[in-house]
Amino acid sequence: MLKFFRSSANQRLVARLLSESFRKHAPSYAIAIVAMIVVAAMTAASAWIMRDITNEFVITKDPNKIYLIAAAVAAIFITKGFATYVQALFLSRAGNSIIAERQRKIYDRMLEHGIEFYHAFTSSDLIVRLTQSAQAARSVVDILVTSFVRDLFSLIGLVLVMVIQQPAMSLVAFIFGPIAIYLVNRLLKQTRRIMEKEFLSFSKIVEVMQETVFGVRIVKSFSLESGMRQRMYKAVADVEKRSNSIAALEAVTSPIMETLAGLAIAGVIVVSGFLVIQGGQTPGSIMSFITALLLAYEPAKRLARARVSLEKGMVGVRMMYDIADRPLSLVEAPDAKPLAKGPGEIRLENLNFSYRDEETVLKDLNLVFPAGQMTALVGASGGGKSTILNLIMRLYDPDSGRVLFDGEDIKYAQLQSLRDKIAYVSQDTFLFSGSVMHNIRMGRQDATDEEVVEAAKAANAHAFITAMPEGYDTLIGENGVFLSGGQRQRLSIARAMLRQSQILLLDEATSALDAESEALFRDALEHLKAGRTTIAIAHRLSTVHQANNIIVMEGGKAIEQGTHKELLKRPDGAYRKLYDFQLMP
Ligand SMILES: Nc1ncnc2c1ncn2[C@@H]1O[C@H](COP(=O)(O)OP(=O)(O)OP(=O)(O)O)[C@@H](O)[C@H]1O
Ligand SMILES: [Mg+2]
Repeated sequence: MLKFFRSSANQRLVARLLSESFRKHAPSYAIAIVAMIVVAAMTAASAWIMRDITNEFVITKDPNKIYLIAAAVAAIFITKGFATYVQALFLSRAGNSIIAERQRKIYDRMLEHGIEFYHAFTSSDLIVRLTQSAQAARSVVDILVTSFVRDLFSLIGLVLVMVIQQPAMSLVAFIFGPIAIYLVNRLLKQTRRIMEKEFLSFSKIVEVMQETVFGVRIVKSFSLESGMRQRMYKAVADVEKRSNSIAALEAVTSPIMETLAGLAIAGVIVVSGFLVIQGGQTPGSIMSFITALLLAYEPAKRLARARVSLEKGMVGVRMMYDIADRPLSLVEAPDAKPLAKGPGEIRLENLNFSYRDEETVLKDLNLVFPAGQMTALVGASGGGKSTILNLIMRLYDPDSGRVLFDGEDIKYAQLQSLRDKIAYVSQDTFLFSGSVMHNIRMGRQDATDEEVVEAAKAANAHAFITAMPEGYDTLIGENGVFLSGGQRQRLSIARAMLRQSQILLLDEATSALDAESEALFRDALEHLKAGRTTIAIAHRLSTVHQANNIIVMEGGKAIEQGTHKELLKRPDGAYRKLYDFQLMP
């Protein structure tokens, strides 16, 4: 059956898809396949019985037999109808379950991947893969099962009827088969190429739509509507063009098949007419033959087309396995152990790191963040501050050197135990759609309502939350669009507060807050850092003042370290200069 595919890469993918799909849904497919075989058998039977019908009318003319034949015809069609129902039902069920399972699998795999994976694909590409690839997997399995069971068996049954009834005439009809197969094959290569492009254009549509939604403020205020419209129109036009090309390719199989079938049937009619008129053939046998030939046409046409449709689906299947087979860049060590409970000291040892090959972001960095104290990281933009936090959270692995938690290399720790120790407040706050309560609880899923309220109070968020009409049940919109910048920030602090973790990583937002918001934020941070090892990337003087120790980063190196007072004493020091520029970017 797999000879059906010309490329061996496709064969392997199909074999894999089928074995994965059948393993899970064996009972459904077994029932559907049995039903399909019944459908095929009934189709052949309906051609076979034409011989008896015709001969009865023309030769024997026995009324009792006519009842019998009529009953047989009714039985054949009723059985076929019922079997078709069973087949359709079980095939759809199994198909829908394949989609659901595929989507779960793709998403699980995506979650397993590290940050780099998400930088390698655009979000729109991933969305399209998650939705369309699962659909494609289902359609490939569907086509294979219907083509190779129902259509192939029907064809075999009908060909048997033809050969038994009229062996010589069958030869005439069969000449046309190979010609049809050859012509359809030539269409395949084109289909594959166009389909791949269509997937890409489709993810462009999603991409433009996403940017419109997330960037609506910028789009509106910079009057970018016409540019966005152009991008969208172009993407839509691309998809339209590709869909038309594919439709044209699929449609062209019809004239090819119809022409060939017409010629075959016409030839057979001429030959059979002569045979009945001149030779001693019974008209029943020829009727049965012609009926089988006519009935064979539909399954043959579908089989010929199946290759084009399969090629279409295989593009999606390939994209799905692309994701599934992409190696994970960051994995837990095989014998990973949970991190031990310790005082909470973090140490960076000879750390070198780069995101890309060409540029080093951190150079031979040695730093200690003492347990229970707050360290502020300051320095010019691009100096590597956020990168340090990324490595401490093990979102990336260092190129060389180690990150130690109380002396343990985090590379050999269970990821969950590492991340459980950390509460992170990101540079750009991210909130989930849903209610305020739901969002804060993301910090610790099993927190009680009372604990959530406590955290909100400590983060100075309780007052504005209760002032909203529905309080903690207020929906905050996609990424908190219904809230102000300062409110969003305090919610993310409440979320970190609730986590009750030993280590706090704070990447301070660079956006300026008004004096009151800043005072509320400072106060919230005071609560949050108490008793925790805190590393705060600081853009505000008020945050720096709260720190026990300050590290100035520049070009991936720590160029100064000390307390606020110590660092200010150096007249030409980097901190002194930053301070004179008010620290704020
Ligand atoms: N995902 C990434 N891929 C490639 N390069 C990156 C990536 N993230 C950051 N960089 C680069 O690494 C360097 C350090 O970036 P980092 O985000 O650590 O700076 P930062 O000190 O936090 O700056 P800022 O104060 O502006 O937030 C920059 O030159 C940046 O271009
Ligand atoms: Mg940063």
